[in-house]
Amino acid sequence: MNFSRRWTDLEPIGRAASGGYRRFAWTSEDSELREWFEDQVYGLGLTLTLDRAGNQWAWWGDPDEAPGIVTGSHLDSVPDGGAFDGPLGVVSALSAVEALKAEGFQPSRPIGVVNFGDEEGARFGVACAGSRIITGALSPERAQSLKDTEGTSLVEAMEDAGQNPDYLGRDEETLNRIGAFVELHVEQGKALATDEYDAAIGVGTAVWPHGRWRFDFPGEANHAGTTRLVDRDDPMLAYASTVLAARQFAAQHQAVATFGKLAVEPNGVNAIPSLVRAWLDARAPQEKDVKALLQELTASAEEFGATVSEESWTGNTLFDPDLAGRLSKLLDGAPLLGTGAGHDAGILATAGISTAMLFVRNPTGKSHTPSEFAEEADCLAGVEALTTVLRELAA
Ligand code: GLV
Ligand code: MN
Ligand code: MN
Ligand code: MN
Repeated sequence: MNFSRRWTDLEPIGRAASGGYRRFAWTSEDSELREWFEDQVYGLGLTLTLDRAGNQWAWWGDPDEAPGIVTGSHLDSVPDGGAFDGPLGVVSALSAVEALKAEGFQPSRPIGVVNFGDEEGARFGVACAGSRIITGALSPERAQSLKDTEGTSLVEAMEDAGQNPDYLGRDEETLNRIGAFVELHVEQGKALATDEYDAAIGVGTAVWPHGRWRFDFPGEANHAGTTRLVDRDDPMLAYASTVLAARQFAAQHQAVATFGKLAVEPNGVNAIPSLVRAWLDARAPQEKDVKALLQELTASAEEFGATVSEESWTGNTLFDPDLAGRLSKLLDGAPLLGTGAGHDAGILATAGISTAMLFVRNPTGKSHTPSEFAEEADCLAGVEALTTVLRELAA
């Protein structure tokens, strides 16, 4: 089965009428995706292992014989996400392994393909939960306390999906198996499509510092028709001011700030809210700028009686510059780029693993929306690039 057939095979899973995807961790869609991955793995004659967070690892060769060359990405999505963010890396990885097998390549060390669980954090709030758990960046206690908006915990969700949540935690055995990690991903901006680069493939060098915070704005529920304006304690006003302040502080600090998720209680059209809960995602090329933005925004929100709690934080992440340089040379001088998007590759790099990324051109520059796109020719160039990289690193 080649790249295009795999892609077509995967396409219907979790697709909504909008054309967008809803593939949240440990849901029935996710189980279907995991079964699809398993079928692919066995179809290629690889062995399958699970780690302490339930991430799926496919191995060509004995993973305990020597540290392997690992590639792969994630299959989950944001709400109404695009088809490429995540799956492109997994499908390309499987297809690259297939190509190497077909040409009779004999790896001198194991080659691994990983499907990381819950990369987007769309269900439980913490991005890259699968890779954070196995590196220890997310503690087992914190992972056990995570709940989705319906109150289902991560532990219950794993159990419902037939997985064992008893061993959540840092996984030395799995980490020791990764000699180097190269994640292929659709570009989530437009750099490769601009005249400056004009390239199908780029090599990732860094992930911007980024974090997620929860803002709780308390108020008092009351009738929308009978409560005089002066008698209201309406938290929506504090929330609205905070959104505007975030925009202003972000501009001042060369950062980006987004309130993209909101929960309102009691969430009635004719009731003043008793609580507005909002999630901030903030990033910048420089750590000090995210910190300054957050400090100013917290001070401003606290004046309205809000409480602010951190849900996740990842500092500036540099991929292995030697590995990135080597890949760029190998791929005919593919341009080197940093990114504002988060990736499991960043979590592994932070844990001290030699890591780099390959980006595939995205002509719309859009991501986390159904209009995310990559031309088939560029996707195939991505598979070829990844095949070249694995051939070189596992020679
Ligand atoms: C995940 O893709 C993120 O960057 O938020
Ligand atoms: Mn994403
Ligand atoms: Mn992704
Ligand atoms: Mn991501």
